[in-house]
Amino acid sequence: YQQGNIYEAIGGAEAVDRLVEAFYKRVGQHPDLIPIFPDDLTETARKQKQFLTQFFGGPPLYIQEHGHPMLRARHMPFPITPTRRDAWLECMAGALEEAEIEEPYKTSIYERLTMTANHMMNREE
Ligand code: HEM
Repeated sequence: YQQGNIYEAIGGAEAVDRLVEAFYKRVGQHPDLIPIFPDDLTETARKQKQFLTQFFGGPPLYIQEHGHPMLRARHMPFPITPTRRDAWLECMAGALEEAEIEEPYKTSIYERLTMTANHMMNREE
């Protein structure tokens, strides 16, 4: 498969919805992440669905509504330490399982998100 086909290969919008719901359910319960996320994750999840849709090669929903993601800059207000990076990735690993994203896509997605998460770190512990 090619990078751009991941979105369709995993099941399109329904798969992204399952993944993001499972992800923020975990984020909202993670002691390392609760302090930096809003109490109501509805809007955060909506934006993440838009972002991951285009990240996986689907329609450019995020850019259409918000412009260039500039993710590192958008994350600067939030102190993202190595511990929080690990917490985020732990939530994502659990969500990929719960959403039943199949191999080889699961590993491929996790690897790409690990690189993006590393890029998002902006503070020492
Ligand atoms: C927004 C934390 C990594 C994509 C946010 C917000 C926080 C956050 C606190 C703001 C939530 C809100 O106010 O609604 C983190 C932490 C990460 C991380 C701790 C650990 C490394 C990532 C990664 C991606 C990502 C790897 C990309 C796959 C986004 C998107 C938004 C967002 C798309 C919404 C931006 C917007 O407001 O338009 N993140 N993030 N984040 N994050 Fe992350």
